[in-house]
Amino acid sequence: MTTEMNNLILTLQDVSKEFQSKERKFIALKNINLKIEKGEYLAITGKSGSGKSTLLNMITGIDHPTSGIINFNGNSINKLSETKLAKWRGENIGIVFQFFQLIPTLTIKENLLLAMEFVNVIPKSDRLKRINDLLQQVGIAEHATKMPSSLSGGEQQRAAIARALANNPEIIVADEPTGNLDSKTADSINTLFSSLANSGKTVIVVTHDKNSTAKYHRIVNLLDGEIESQTIQNK
Ligand SMILES: Nc1ncnc2c1ncn2[C@@H]1O[C@H](COP(=O)(O)OP(=O)(O)OP(=O)(O)O)[C@@H](O)[C@H]1O
Ligand SMILES: [Mg+2]
Repeated sequence: MTTEMNNLILTLQDVSKEFQSKERKFIALKNINLKIEKGEYLAITGKSGSGKSTLLNMITGIDHPTSGIINFNGNSINKLSETKLAKWRGENIGIVFQFFQLIPTLTIKENLLLAMEFVNVIPKSDRLKRINDLLQQVGIAEHATKMPSSLSGGEQQRAAIARALANNPEIIVADEPTGNLDSKTADSINTLFSSLANSGKTVIVVTHDKNSTAKYHRIVNLLDGEIESQTIQNK
């Protein structure tokens, strides 16, 4: 086996997804083949409707392919029961959304604590220290006991990234995480993702923003549910 093979964290083999409506079936993804390396900072681009979110939903197991195989560290996730899949997702994937989706009635610290309680892999006695460390890492430690609504958009997104990291997942996925932020704030969030990838996390970001200066290792462009092109950038 080559080193490259050893470093693979996710592989998609001939992944297709069809949506069936009353009148017709719609093919949202067609035979996607993708190998993602551990520690890769990957962007998925493409115009609206090209299948970006559908592809992320396949990777996170939130939705299932119509055909094809998804392997995580060499094991297929397709055959897992919904319960096992939810456990797998909680332990291995951190998800960041465009509109942050922090729980508005909980403080930032409580939002992270809740994520840890759900998954229950970080020992109870380590949780508060870990939350403080994560909030330091994303640069908002001073906001720990504030409500999300009192933070700026960029700060809320940092909090959401800290929450995604709460259970120390190997993979971070984000669907348009900077879509709701001004370009300067977006740049700082992109830099944060880049540093996460450099620290060994695999970071997969869906973005519309062709002009982004983000230091992606690779850009996969989708067109009508197919990989139209891939660009490898300097690491
Ligand atoms: N649950 C569903 N049922 C039927 N069609 C769907 C469903 N989810 C997505 N689609 C269709 O699949 C195609 C791809 O959708 P997807 O949300 O993946 O696009 P996208 O690239 O993320 O677009 P955007 O940039 O607007 O978020 C679209 O044509 C969409 O209408
Ligand atoms: Mg989308």
